[in-house]
Amino acid sequence: MPWFDWLSLFVRWFHVIAGVAWIGASFYFIWLDNSLESPPEWKKQKGIKGDLWAVHGGGFYEVAKYAYGPEKMPENLHWFKWEAYTTWLSGFALLILVYYLGASAYLIDPSVMPMESGQAIGLGLALVFGGLVLYELACRSPLSQYPVVFACCLAVMICLATYLACHWFSGRGAYIHVGALIGTIMAGNVLFNIMPAQRKMVAAVANKQDINPAWGEGAKLRSVHNNYFTLPLLFIMISNHYPMTYQHEWNWLVLILIIAISAWIRHFFNLRHHGIVKPGILVSGAAAMLALSIWVSWPDASPASLNTQESTKANTEVDDQTVMQLVETHCQSCHSRSPTDDIFKIAPLGVVLDGWEDVERLAPQIVQRAAITKDMPFMNKTNMTEDERNQLAQWYQQRQP
Ligand code: HEC
Repeated sequence: MPWFDWLSLFVRWFHVIAGVAWIGASFYFIWLDNSLESPPEWKKQKGIKGDLWAVHGGGFYEVAKYAYGPEKMPENLHWFKWEAYTTWLSGFALLILVYYLGASAYLIDPSVMPMESGQAIGLGLALVFGGLVLYELACRSPLSQYPVVFACCLAVMICLATYLACHWFSGRGAYIHVGALIGTIMAGNVLFNIMPAQRKMVAAVANKQDINPAWGEGAKLRSVHNNYFTLPLLFIMISNHYPMTYQHEWNWLVLILIIAISAWIRHFFNLRHHGIVKPGILVSGAAAMLALSIWVSWPDASPASLNTQESTKANTEVDDQTVMQLVETHCQSCHSRSPTDDIFKIAPLGVVLDGWEDVERLAPQIVQRAAITKDMPFMNKTNMTEDERNQLAQWYQQRQP
């Protein structure tokens, strides 16, 4: 359906633009807040508690942060809220377009849990909005007085959501739902807390009343959560290009570890903004990422490194004809100049496997996806067996000099 693809393209494009604006503004303000310096006396007398000079794009900028508020409300006050709202709205639209309208192709993997589209969509929505409600309740409970305990509970909730999603949905459907949950919590923090607190502050300044410090503190807790969520969220948004993560048999653990490590790396930058440089965090984060990648992809990192143990029970050679037949039966319904699949009307990512030349040229990719990461055939729609996958692997090995 070309019109559908265009719609998906425009929404995705917009989502990326809005997301860049949101996270960009958020990074900028975190940096700003952490980089403020003590202002000269005359500024202090005006109620300014921190100031900063910057040069950018051919001009000098002077930024001042007030301890409370300006004496008089400025005519134009910039809020930075639509970045968050439009990112969430376009992201949710994309979730519907790709994963809900295409549930049977993208969300449901019968080998994980067979279910109807309606059921899968219901579970997906329950995960995202159920998680949001739990988080909001926790924020309004006494738990919010203990930021560290709160953070631990939040971590447990994210782990649980990840575990459940990976046992309900296809790998990529599961990952995107964890991302949707995190993104929804982040946008919810803006909508339900940060904005109302700011409205109260603005109203207080306009009415020349005192600002209650508690308004800002509640918002601060949620800003900190949003801050640590950014790197994990961005990983999840690009994860569907990397089947070695979401397709792993322990895919839930892979995601939890990546979330934890990337939040840890964010911690380095937060401290650094305050002038505390702890290279140990960055080094241990990088080492943990490296260890994770070795665990995930060792020893079957590439088709060339396939070894014979599992694939050659019978030592019979696999001939080219058998391989061509496997591709015809299991791949061509999608990967062809004229696909017959009910959903994929254009060869996905331009991978066409119509003739023997195609198969020879793309042999490493074919074996990689069908015999190693095993994320092809897509959702195993054409029911490829382990045996058939092993045949591909063996054929590939035979060809190695
Ligand atoms: C039901 C449709 C379908 C079938 C059947 C199918 N694929 Fe795919 N294939 C896809 C989709 C969709 C993608 C794009 C996935 C993505 O967006 O990451 C893809 C991507 C690929 C890629 C990745 C290209 C790249 O550059 O990353 C390879 C290689 C591939 N398929 C090989 C195969 C092989 C080999 C088979 C048969 C064993 C097969 N596919 C069967 C739908 C299918």
